[in-house]
Amino acid sequence: MERIMKAAATAVAVLLAVAVLVAEAAHHPRGVTSSYRRKLEASEDMPLDADVFAVPPGRNAPQQVHITLGDQAGTAMTVSWVTVEAEGNSTVLYGRAMGRLDHAAEGTTTRYTFYNYTSGFIHHCTLAGLDHATRYYYAVGFGDTVRTFWFTTPPRPGPDASLRLGLIGDLGQTADSNSTLAHYEQHPGDAVLFVGDLSYADKHPFHDSNRWDTWGRFSERSVAYQPWIWTAGNHEVEYAPELGETTAFKPFTHRYPTPYRASGSSEPYWYSVKLGPAHIIVLSSYSAFGKYTPQFKWLEAELQRVDRAVTPWLFISTHVPWYNSNNFHFMEGEPMRVQFEKMAVDARVDAVFAGHVHAYERSHRYSNIKYNITDGRCTPVADRRAPVYVVIGDGGNIEGLADELTWPQPAYSAFREYSFGHAVLDIKNRTHAYYAWYRNHDGNKVTADATWLTNRYHMPNHDDSSVHSNI
Ligand SMILES: [Fe+2]
Repeated sequence: MERIMKAAATAVAVLLAVAVLVAEAAHHPRGVTSSYRRKLEASEDMPLDADVFAVPPGRNAPQQVHITLGDQAGTAMTVSWVTVEAEGNSTVLYGRAMGRLDHAAEGTTTRYTFYNYTSGFIHHCTLAGLDHATRYYYAVGFGDTVRTFWFTTPPRPGPDASLRLGLIGDLGQTADSNSTLAHYEQHPGDAVLFVGDLSYADKHPFHDSNRWDTWGRFSERSVAYQPWIWTAGNHEVEYAPELGETTAFKPFTHRYPTPYRASGSSEPYWYSVKLGPAHIIVLSSYSAFGKYTPQFKWLEAELQRVDRAVTPWLFISTHVPWYNSNNFHFMEGEPMRVQFEKMAVDARVDAVFAGHVHAYERSHRYSNIKYNITDGRCTPVADRRAPVYVVIGDGGNIEGLADELTWPQPAYSAFREYSFGHAVLDIKNRTHAYYAWYRNHDGNKVTADATWLTNRYHMPNHDDSSVHSNI
C-alpha cells in the first residue's frame, strides 16, 4: 500500500512539474524556425517584353499610374503618372461616378536625368477636399488615350473604424515579385504600407532607370487603385558619384511623392499618415537620426501629437529592422534602435514594420532599453510595453533570399522563415487586430504565420504573444 501511495505521489509530482512547464511554455512560447524550404531558383528580373511591363495602347498614353495619400488624414490623394512621347497635360478629372467626372485638378510635371537616362514627363496631381471612405473615379490623359481608374478614400480617423493594411517590402520585379503582388490582390486591403526597396533599378548597369519605368507599369494594377504608403530603402538612395550622380534619392523623389509637409516634416523620407484607427509613422533609415537632427526632433514632436483616443493603433515603418536574427544585415539596425527604441516603448507603439532582410520574421514583445554601458544588462527582455517587430523584406527581388539564420533562435524571435510573401494586418476594432503572413508556396498563397495583436493603448497589460492562431 505504501508503495502504491509513493508511486501515486511521484506521478502527481511529475504531472505538476509537466503542467508548470506547459504553462510556462504557453506564457513564453518558444520561437519557431519554419522547416519550409523553398526551391532555390535564380532570381532574375522579368524580361523587358513581359506582359506585366506592357505599355498601354494609344499615342502618349499615361502609364505607371500610382496614388498615395495627399495629406495626413485621407481627404486628399496624389495621382502620379508618366507620359513618354509628349508632355500632355497634368489634369485629373474625377468624380463619384464613372460617367460623371465633374471635378478637375491641375498638377505639375517634372523630369530628371540619371547618367545616360532621361525620364519621361512625370505628372503629379493632388485631389483635395475628398470625403472619407468614398469611392472616386479618376481619369488621366486626353483624346483617345484617356485612362480611368478608381480608389476609395480611407475611413475618417477614429477609434472604431476598421482597416485592412497590406504589408509588402523589397518587391522588385521578378517572377516572385509578380506572385507576391498577385497573392496580395486575391484579397487586397484598403492601403499598402510599403517598407522600402521598390524597383531595384540600381542593380542594372548605370542604375538603368528604364527599370523604374517597368516597375511603375508592373505595380500599376494595384497602386493605381489604392494608396501605397512609401518608405525609402537603400535601393532608393542611388548615390552614384562614379556616374556623376550625387543627389541622393533622385529617381525615387521625382517619381514617388509623399505627403510629408502635412505632418510637419522637412523631408519626404519621414512623415506620418492617419488611416482610420491607425497612426502610421514612416522613418528613414538613410537620413540622419542622431539626437538634434531634423528626423529625431520631428519624431519626438510627432509622438507627442499622436492621440490614441482617436487613432488607437500606432505603427512605425522603417526599412532596416531593429530586430533581425538573420545573418544578412545583422545588426545594421542597431544605431536607429539605440536611438529610437525607448521612444517607441514609452509611446506604446503597437508594431514596427521593416524590410531590407529578404526573409520573414515576427517577434514577441521584447525590449532592450535597460542597457547602459556600465550595467551589462544588454539582453532583450520580454516587455509588454514593447512593439511587435515584423521583418517583411520578402517581396521577391533580384537579390534573392536571405537564407542564413543565426543560431540559436533568439528569445525575442517568435517566427522566422526565409521565403517570399506578404502580410496583411486586419484592424477589427480599437482593441484587436488580426495579423497574417502569406508565403508564396510554389505559385500558391499559403498562410504560414498568424497572430492576434492586442492594442497597447487599450489593452496595455495583455500578453498577446501567448495568443496564437492555429494555422
Ligand atoms: Fe534594402
